Amino acid sequence: MKDTYTRFIAGLLALVMVLALTACGKAAAAEDSPTVAPQPTEAAAQAADETAESDSATGGENILIAYFTAAENSGVDAVSSASVVTVDDTAKGVSQAVADMIAERTGGELFSIQTSVVYPADMGELIDYVAEEQDAGVLPELTTHIEDLDEYDTVFVGFPIWWYDMPQVMYSFFEEYDFAGKTIIPFTVHNGSRLSGTPATIQELEPEATVIQDGFTVSHQKAAEAAEDVAAWLDGLGY
Ligand SMILES: Cc1cc2nc3c(=O)[nH]c(=O)nc-3n(C[C@H](O)[C@H](O)[C@H](O)COP(=O)(O)O)c2cc1C
Repeated sequence: MKDTYTRFIAGLLALVMVLALTACGKAAAAEDSPTVAPQPTEAAAQAADETAESDSATGGENILIAYFTAAENSGVDAVSSASVVTVDDTAKGVSQAVADMIAERTGGELFSIQTSVVYPADMGELIDYVAEEQDAGVLPELTTHIEDLDEYDTVFVGFPIWWYDMPQVMYSFFEEYDFAGKTIIPFTVHNGSRLSGTPATIQELEPEATVIQDGFTVSHQKAAEAAEDVAAWLDGLGY
């Protein structure tokens, strides 16, 4: 069980950080709004076909990059929300930003994990909602599905840390697929908790997969400028 006080303080800290980010994001959005506004909608439309699309021309035929991000699963305002970062004039979910960097580098195929749950756009409400969802052990219904997992040997899996853990939807994800014989490479975005032990959790959920414990992690605040760190991490892993 979570200690209510600890949870409150952590929530407050996360909230303060995201509020600060909102202020910065708003300033950036004011300059860039004509180009940033459509992006999450496009991403949602892209995922709506419920399948991963064809391989990138840069290689990575057997690499899938699956990610979950609040911005594609809530009623957030694509421009002003604290749940987005702006990379190259494009607003996107924080986990999505890192997923895109991995895709650019590896040529792997992107897959947005989405759920029928529409998470609250309001940060305070979201924090409370997620705490209750975790305490109840809910497994949110997935609305996007990997068409043919056999195509992939390596699956990067990224998500935000929510209450020191994976979002519940990631438990749905690992419940749906058997990654036996594949390599899973986790990456997270956070506000201080880093990987928060999630690679070990994934290994428990997928005992017959090889789960790389040296996952990539970056704070929400530094995610937009993480491309070089992502590249160095991938180099270290041989990608
Ligand atoms: C409900 C909720 C719980 C969170 N809990 C934590 C936490 O326990 N530790 C942490 O470092 N960050 C926490 N955060 C901050 C997120 O991990 C961070 O803002 C992340 O960049 C959001 O990524 P996204 O935009 O891809 O959803 C939390 C955020 C939310 C909304």
